[in-house]
Amino acid sequence: MMERPVVERRAAALIDHTTAIQAENVHAWFDRLHALRGITMTIPERKVTAVIGPSGCGKSTFLRCLNRMHELVPGARVSGAVLMDGRDIYTPGVDPVQVRRRVGMVFQKPNPFPTMTIYENVAAGLTLAGEGSRKTLDEIVEQSLRAAALWDEVKDRLRKPGTSLSGGQQQRLCIARALAVSPEVLLMDEPASALDPASTLRIEELARDLAKDITIVIVTHNMQQAARVSDFTAFLLDGELVEYGPTNDLFTKPRERRTEDYITGRFG
Ligand SMILES: Nc1ncnc2c1ncn2[C@@H]1O[C@H](COP(=O)(O)OP(=O)(O)O)[C@@H](O)[C@H]1O
Ligand SMILES: [Mg+2]
Repeated sequence: MMERPVVERRAAALIDHTTAIQAENVHAWFDRLHALRGITMTIPERKVTAVIGPSGCGKSTFLRCLNRMHELVPGARVSGAVLMDGRDIYTPGVDPVQVRRRVGMVFQKPNPFPTMTIYENVAAGLTLAGEGSRKTLDEIVEQSLRAAALWDEVKDRLRKPGTSLSGGQQQRLCIARALAVSPEVLLMDEPASALDPASTLRIEELARDLAKDITIVIVTHNMQQAARVSDFTAFLLDGELVEYGPTNDLFTKPRERRTEDYITGRFG
């Protein structure tokens, strides 16, 4: 049988999956700085999608457009659409707080709430949402810590401060905190870049594991990490999506010269 042309095969690889998020012609500005220039991209459900590209190309901005965090920056603006279940999260009347519950986020530097215990950190989102029942909280805290591969290390010290943990543990605590409100999508912005190699591998394993249940979008400047962890990879450059497809294709037979230059280390 004749092999299908690569472009068609890549499109098919995405179409075969259910869509978690569809970004359509997303532009973003910081005042007059035009940081994203029309990103259209389908993020498949329960897969790991990596976003790579040189520093300043718009990776973090793109993630923040997917859960309405970009607009929290004074002077920031977004246009285009970000569809979930066919509905644009930017439609007037959509509550950004609800969007951020459905689409959680973890950041480069672990940021547990400094005055809170491990338990309180994980429970924080639920407490805010008015979940009062102690039994439910206990259950969700345990579930979330288990899902974040941290339970065994902290189960006997849940009342200790979150900040008493190591960096890698703190990052898993932040992941547990994000998971506690049952997001459909978890955005991870260079989640391991502040961690040692062993902790980095644990976060990568965790990302793969979580993708059995939820959709993961992970920003990384580390191409080995993208190759190890993701099913699909998007390459951004100067606010544009240069190339997007199955990770293996993008790294072994990039379609664009600029992708090839980047992945072979010629710039960035
Ligand atoms: N809070 C901000 N205010 C103004 N400009 C910003 C802000 N954050 C990022 N930028 C600019 O937007 C562009 C994209 O940045 P960013 O999304 O952080 O890139 P990346 O995550 O790929 O390194 C860069 O030119 C950056 O300097
Ligand atoms: Mg960034």
